[in-house]
Amino acid sequence: MHQDLLVLGIETSCDETSASIVENGKYVMSNVIYSQIEIHKKYGGVVPEIASRNHIEVIGEVVTKALDDAYITLDDVNVVAATYGPGLVGALLVGLSYGKALAYGKGLPFVGVNHIEGHISANYLGGDFEPPFICLIASGGHSHIVHVKDYGVYEVLGRTVDDAAGEAFDKVARALGLGYPGGPKIDKIAKEGDPEKYKFPKSFMEKDNFDFSFSGLKTAVINQLNHEKQKGYSINIADYAASFQKNVVDVLTYKLVKAAKYKNLKKISIAGGVASNSLLRARLDEIAKEEGFLLHYPKQIFCTDNGAMIASAGYFDFVRGKTSGLDLNAIPYLKLFNC
Ligand code: KG4
Ligand code: ZN
Repeated sequence: MHQDLLVLGIETSCDETSASIVENGKYVMSNVIYSQIEIHKKYGGVVPEIASRNHIEVIGEVVTKALDDAYITLDDVNVVAATYGPGLVGALLVGLSYGKALAYGKGLPFVGVNHIEGHISANYLGGDFEPPFICLIASGGHSHIVHVKDYGVYEVLGRTVDDAAGEAFDKVARALGLGYPGGPKIDKIAKEGDPEKYKFPKSFMEKDNFDFSFSGLKTAVINQLNHEKQKGYSINIADYAASFQKNVVDVLTYKLVKAAKYKNLKKISIAGGVASNSLLRARLDEIAKEEGFLLHYPKQIFCTDNGAMIASAGYFDFVRGKTSGLDLNAIPYLKLFNC
């Protein structure tokens, strides 16, 4: 495909309303993100109904700003892409319906994008990384280790059997009284704590697979916290945060490296909200040097949910001949399949 293609990517699967214009799957011309974090904060997590309503209120404005920021109009867009799952069904439906309506109105091709595939594709933004590689996707809803064989061609090697890594960050942060979203808060306060203070059990390290389990760790942290509270000890939140974070990072990096060696691949990457964690990045930098891996991670802004990653995934689907019908529905529990 030699002709330049501009893809409008729309993302509304959770609490970010985002739209972006990306050229040829790689070059970000605009990326507008309206975050609802401030709205959901007081409830300690995302309230699905409130999320959907807010997406409806701002989606038009967000898409218009994405076009304006890229100095284009809808007439310049070649393909419309929108997330159709996994995510909150009401939230997904807003971006999906909006995207389909735009495509229909303008007679443009439409591509429904798997959100997990979007996170993986965030690695293509900027244009300096390409398959094959092993990708760790760790976000609020997903923890996967995927062999990315080619654009849009995946082998899922492992996934979480219970809580996702980001979910564990959010739940532990809540128990520590740090508020929502927990990941960035734990990341920050952990810098002041002792990561060796508590030796929580490292889940699934001994198992000969690439799966994760974080629910036992979360329970161990909460039990220890309750125990110390009952004894009347003074609680050092930073030590808890640092010990918990180190545990998660040790498990994630161990499994990612093991998968790369198993597949004999030297290229590794990370994606998803947890990929912006500073300890995870620092540890992987060290490991990459030691092991001679080429490590790539998306810019922080493309790790958490955004329209640019959806536009990129949509582009690579489109050039491989994959488009969606306008009858495509939202699929809240959509999985990433081997193909
Ligand atoms: O990818 P994302 O924006 O949404 C989902 O697809 O789930 O990821 C959000 C998740 C939240 O659980 C948040 O706590 C976590 O990513 N997160 C972090 C950091 N920044 C965001 N976790 C650890 N460290 C961070 N710096
Ligand atoms: Zn996400």
